[in-house]
Amino acid sequence: MQPAQLQALKEWFIRYVRVFYSDDPAVQDGIHLKEAHTGRVCEEMRLLGNSLHLEAADLNLAEAVALLHDVGRFKQYATYRTFNDRRSENHALLGIRELAGTGALSGLPAEEENLITKAVEYHNRRELPHPLPERQSLFARLIRDADKLDILYLFTESLARENQKPNRALNSALPNTPGYSPVLIHNLLQGRLCRYDDMKNYNDRKLLMLSWVYDINFPWTLAEINRRGYLEKILDGLPATGEIRQAGERLRAAVTRKTVRPAPGAGMTAGTGS
Ligand SMILES: [Fe+2]
Repeated sequence: MQPAQLQALKEWFIRYVRVFYSDDPAVQDGIHLKEAHTGRVCEEMRLLGNSLHLEAADLNLAEAVALLHDVGRFKQYATYRTFNDRRSENHALLGIRELAGTGALSGLPAEEENLITKAVEYHNRRELPHPLPERQSLFARLIRDADKLDILYLFTESLARENQKPNRALNSALPNTPGYSPVLIHNLLQGRLCRYDDMKNYNDRKLLMLSWVYDINFPWTLAEINRRGYLEKILDGLPATGEIRQAGERLRAAVTRKTVRPAPGAGMTAGTGS
């Protein structure tokens, strides 16, 4: 993708989002939340792409995917006043309908239009379809990592502010009751991704966020999760049980295993993940 094409998409996005601006502060807060999220995911995407030495055209394409990955969120919030897909509709599918309906991607080569559309469609799936063509897989894995990194930022920020102003949009309105559900801690102890449908309270949400470590694709992303202290910030807010401590140890071991490069001459370099 050429820089001018990315610039045109950015201008399209600004015009598109402006339509959803509202005098109702409750609506405007939601629109602004996703606008700011989009901006940060674009920055994370550039950093991630640079870590992989993507060429300039692919970096631009990756940023376009980041720019548009949550385009469905604006209409979703304006229509349903929620970001909960289960209580409204799948925002990724809503997004690709909006892209198609507005012709936002119509000036692009068909291959790029297809890569963007598929990456947006797949960004919030529990698992990527398998197998995927190599470039579809690359851009889908990129956006999934960049998106998770910013959601972890938002989530840990909201934990820090929890007592002052809980963010209902982020904690899915789950009750802040003591304890956590056995199925989530079990998944975490097994090194598996947790399921949204299993969450019963806010602690379960924290366990689910931790389990994202097992669904990260690139070493750079894990290294950033580690460097920014997201795991510790979430673990600190959970009950101090033996299970939680064990889960924390397993998470830290997984991060170390996937981010630390072997010493020179050891014959292998850290993989890019799958
Ligand atoms: Fe999304």
